[in-house]
Amino acid sequence: MGTFAAIAVFVYGLIPLAFGLPPIWRQPEQVHLSYPGLPGSMLVTWTTLNETDSVVEYGVWGGKLFELSAKGQATLFEDGGFEKRKMFIHRVMLTDLKPGISYVYHCGSDAGWSDMFYLTALKEGADWTPRFALFGDMGNENPQSLARLQKDTQIGMYDAILHIGDFAYDMHEDNARIGDQFMRQVESIAAYVPYMTCPGNHENPYNFSNYRHRFSMPGNTESLWYSWNIGPVHIISFSTEVYFYLNYGLDLLFKQYEWLQKDLEEANRPESRAQRPWIITMGHRPMYCSNADKDDCTQFNSCIRTGLNNTDPPAPGLEDLFYRYGVDLEVWAHEHSYERLWPVYNYTVFNGSKNEPYVNPKAPVHIITGSAGCRERTDPFVPDFRAWSAFRSTDYGYARMQVFNSSHLYLEQVSDDKNGKVIDSIWLVKDKHGPEAWL
Ligand SMILES: *[C@@H]1O[C@H](CO)[C@@H](O)[C@H](O)[C@H]1NC(C)=O
Ligand SMILES: *[C@@H]1O[C@H](CO)[C@@H](O)[C@H](O)[C@H]1NC(C)=O
Ligand SMILES: *[C@@H]1O[C@H](CO)[C@@H](O)[C@H](O)[C@H]1NC(C)=O
Ligand SMILES: *[C@@H]1O[C@H](CO)[C@@H](O)[C@H](O)[C@H]1NC(C)=O
Ligand SMILES: *[C@@H]1O[C@H](CO)[C@@H](O)[C@H](O)[C@H]1NC(C)=O
Ligand SMILES: *[C@@H]1O[C@H](CO)[C@@H](O)[C@H](O)[C@H]1NC(C)=O
Ligand SMILES: [Fe+2]
Repeated sequence: MGTFAAIAVFVYGLIPLAFGLPPIWRQPEQVHLSYPGLPGSMLVTWTTLNETDSVVEYGVWGGKLFELSAKGQATLFEDGGFEKRKMFIHRVMLTDLKPGISYVYHCGSDAGWSDMFYLTALKEGADWTPRFALFGDMGNENPQSLARLQKDTQIGMYDAILHIGDFAYDMHEDNARIGDQFMRQVESIAAYVPYMTCPGNHENPYNFSNYRHRFSMPGNTESLWYSWNIGPVHIISFSTEVYFYLNYGLDLLFKQYEWLQKDLEEANRPESRAQRPWIITMGHRPMYCSNADKDDCTQFNSCIRTGLNNTDPPAPGLEDLFYRYGVDLEVWAHEHSYERLWPVYNYTVFNGSKNEPYVNPKAPVHIITGSAGCRERTDPFVPDFRAWSAFRSTDYGYARMQVFNSSHLYLEQVSDDKNGKVIDSIWLVKDKHGPEAWL
């Protein structure tokens, strides 16, 4: 470098300092996708620290790059910590995507573009086999399953990821920098397939504001409860936390309950079931578990199962509701372990038959998969096997699910400790769905 250039660089480098100008952060980061519930659509969400336009440029994989473009909006998010850090959350909806077709995209604005990512528009209709990864309780520290999930996702093993609450540990910490770091870390999966979420207890600070602002789930409940359809499945995501953080409003619990009831009624109509026979719920805290801690699920009358009797009016639990509308499968997390239950209702096992408990089961099936990995490590079990507990493991890992058609659903649990070995699997087989299936 010549002397002149060196001086120029030196002087140029001093200018911002000399005038006390702060750096400007217009580079997009924390890119993630969600499925807005409308066939042919995908929502792209990202963050910049300074305000910019919100644009996604995209094009069919193998075609002309960035030949299409869509605009959206940014909202200002101010964290609740003492620094009151501000950031802009950008949301751009892509529409008219061709089912099953892959697109290359980047997002940002003329002030800065992200890396290039690819996404695949969900297939249309009910006649295909959606593939999922599901887990809860993944943090920045010790996210043991993340590398395996990154590779699985990038080689195209999943159509959607379900993160069943508890992120980052915790998103609000260090004035929400931990949230930023987490969202950067999961970009490696969440920028490629819809990353569908529900809130967990770790999201509670400042009334779940990091969760509500950073994610973009369907409906207009700030991602707290919503439902969506994929292939032959109707998935209902909800907040178990409305039963625990009553300080944020008991009305939320009742609003959600009413919504759940309405959504289930609709999803259980014969014409809905004919199209989408499977109803799957996802919520963070389970109603059953055999962990050796004092969590709600270890209580016979867990709040989630039987409700609250010390509120005015008393709050209904969810077991009866889900049973009444014939929910097929309930997926949970919160316990840092994996547990599969026999078909169960009101603490009674209702196997399909002694030899084939999951063939035409007479009650919903529950699984708890909350050991993706976080700083709190794993949760041990009580020594005795409960009558309703079929399989349990404290290995780090996550679950995979494929819904083949109206009668066959496959579930497996991957152990990261055992190098990706599948340590448990079941076929849930149903000739009939809905409450009639229990008879
Ligand atoms: C960019 O963001 C930083 C951090 O929030 C802020 O201090 C600065 O004023 C912003 N600059 C502009 C030009 O908006
Ligand atoms: C917490 O957030 C929810 C969702 O926005 C809102 O309905 C509720 O009123 C808030 N509660 C408090 C106490 O601010
Ligand atoms: C109220 O709920 C608690 C805890 O779930 C339970 O132990 C108690 O028996 C209930 N009381 C009544 C009157 O139902
Ligand atoms: C559930 O079981 C309890 C006792 O274990 C019983 O008192 C209650 O009536 C049962 N509830 C229903 C709805 O069957
Ligand atoms: C349910 O099926 C499993 C597996 O066959 C069996 O071990 C268990 O005892 C059965 N439970 C009941 C109540 O039939
Ligand atoms: C549903 O999928 C399963 C697993 O692939 C298959 O064995 C079964 O024959 C299929 N049933 C129908 C009705 O297509
Ligand atoms: Fe939790």
